Amino acid sequence: MIFYFSGCGNSRFIAESIAQATGDKLVFIPEAEREHNFNYDIAEDEHVGFVFPIYSWSPPQLVVRFVRKLRFAHKPAYVWLAVTCGDNGGVAEKVFDEQLVRAGVQLNAAYCFVMPNTYVNMAGMGTDKPEKAQHKIEKAKAHLPEVIQNIRDRKSVMEMRRGLFPRFKTKVIGKSFHKWVSDEPFRSTDACISCGKCVSVCPLQNITLEDGRPKWHGNCTNCDACFHHCPKNAIQYGKASVGKRQYYFGKD
Ligand SMILES: Cc1cc2nc3c(=O)[nH]c(=O)nc-3n(C[C@H](O)[C@H](O)[C@H](O)COP(=O)(O)O)c2cc1C
Ligand code: SF4
Ligand code: SF4
Repeated sequence: MIFYFSGCGNSRFIAESIAQATGDKLVFIPEAEREHNFNYDIAEDEHVGFVFPIYSWSPPQLVVRFVRKLRFAHKPAYVWLAVTCGDNGGVAEKVFDEQLVRAGVQLNAAYCFVMPNTYVNMAGMGTDKPEKAQHKIEKAKAHLPEVIQNIRDRKSVMEMRRGLFPRFKTKVIGKSFHKWVSDEPFRSTDACISCGKCVSVCPLQNITLEDGRPKWHGNCTNCDACFHHCPKNAIQYGKASVGKRQYYFGKD
């Protein structure tokens, strides 16, 4: 079984690729949370995987929230994590592992895939140029068979990309980032054509159309899927996202 979260498709691609090779069932974390599915009947010899993007050198808060409630009927034989990030993930896997203790399990392995960056909500941070994004995707695809084999062999490996000052980034910057996450700065411009794409792509069902324009309802993880998928580039996050290139996995 693979539990995953993805806003813009990078992590979904990784989760689906691994599931296709291993025959695992996929569980989309926001859906499981909405349906209050926290108890899973895992066979004793089964493995369990988690896939999600790195948000400020940490696991997304909704993933932490879910894992705190997660319970297994039997202890899985092997527990692995695969993160996607634009560059590096600090000590996110350690923070995640600490949360897993509540579910009675510990990570045996952690894998890291560097994928195109999706974060546009801060000045100076934006998406990669198309060539760089493509290069990252090709490298990630090439890395997949090795990770799949390691999962099949139940190898104990910790393959994170930590970057500089990883503990500080995760424990200090990451912690304050998650308190600061808000959808308040999101707005739509007059380019909006009321197509409803932002409504359908939001993994948290946080957007409705009111008088033909998106309205955000305060349950946001800042995944930026709404910004990236708008066909008219009519969604902005204050001024920070203006002029930044849209990206989602599979775009163009
Ligand atoms: C809110 C937010 C915070 C992010 N923080 C980091 C980070 O700390 N380090 C990093 O390398 N990438 C960071 N990224 C980039 C994503 O981890 C990366 O693009 C990921 O592959 C997106 O996955 P998804 O397409 O499945 O949503 C961040 C992206 C978002 C939206
Ligand atoms: S995706 Fe863009 S154009 Fe479509 S409703 Fe949302 S803001 Fe408007
Ligand atoms: S409102 Fe936008 S940024 Fe927030 S969770 Fe939904 S799609 Fe992601």
